[in-house]
Amino acid sequence: MTDDSGRVKKAIRQRYGTAALTVKTHAGMRASCCPGSSCCCGRSQIDLTGDAYTPEDLDQLPEKARLASLGCGNPTALAALKEGEIVLDLGSGGGIDVLLSAKRVGPTGKAYGLDMTDEMLALARENQLESGLDNVEFLKGDMEQIPLPDEHVDVIISNCVINLSPNKGRVFKEAWRVLKPGGRIAVTDIVFRGNKALIPDGVLQQMEQWTGCVAGALSEEEYHQRLQEAGFVNISVEVIRVYDRQVIEQWIGSGQWPQEGVQVTSAFVRAYKPKN
Ligand SMILES: C[S@@+](CC[C@H](N)C(=O)[O-])C[C@H]1O[C@@H](n2cnc3c(N)ncnc32)[C@H](O)[C@@H]1O
Repeated sequence: MTDDSGRVKKAIRQRYGTAALTVKTHAGMRASCCPGSSCCCGRSQIDLTGDAYTPEDLDQLPEKARLASLGCGNPTALAALKEGEIVLDLGSGGGIDVLLSAKRVGPTGKAYGLDMTDEMLALARENQLESGLDNVEFLKGDMEQIPLPDEHVDVIISNCVINLSPNKGRVFKEAWRVLKPGGRIAVTDIVFRGNKALIPDGVLQQMEQWTGCVAGALSEEEYHQRLQEAGFVNISVEVIRVYDRQVIEQWIGSGQWPQEGVQVTSAFVRAYKPKN
């Protein structure tokens, strides 16, 4: 699948473009409940975010930013953002984590959202307008080639997106390049726990499973190793939710997941770029 990076990205744009249009055009409908078989991380009706955001967080957001949420955690809760910091969200979708970050870093800071899907960018920009925040900028681009200068940001966040990249080595290299010395990564993502070799090839080869955030996920050990290879230090991969069998069966289809030996989880991933 990773050999066919162009085809994977086209399928991702289609899936998340549809999810964005669903939120825009079907008043009050969540991206994770869009019509059709499936159109976002997980199948229709599956909510991987759970109660990661507090009611106070959600109350301060435009409705369509909440409805477009397709993450598997809340990286802004992990990032310990400070006033004046510059934040970059990889795969910002409808903008939920960018808007929350912008409020936390305040007018002396800035929050960038990066996404490669036009419909998501349009929705995120609408949400920015409605929120009235002007320390926000949504950029069009690929996280494997981040359109920002070297050593520009203090914190990289991301929510359920890095698993989607066919070239994760490139994502971590780019993250390293744009982070200032002493900068940090604070992301949530789908991560396998246990023996990844037990996952049937049939699951790992399906485009539907890649764009649905399963087939491209790394194991805990792989995440750690890839970040280390890119030069990061003080790396931790902390599982915050283990999905039960019922959810996995709804998500990837029944009878496809091994009975034991490997789990699908959401994890908080932290890593630091050393100071010079
Ligand atoms: C599962 S959604 C998550 C959106 C958002 N982070 C959230 O929590 O709601 C994945 C998003 O990542 C974007 N995306 C996927 N691969 C990307 C890439 N290589 N570069 C930039 N954006 C990407 C998709 O367009 C989509 O908006």
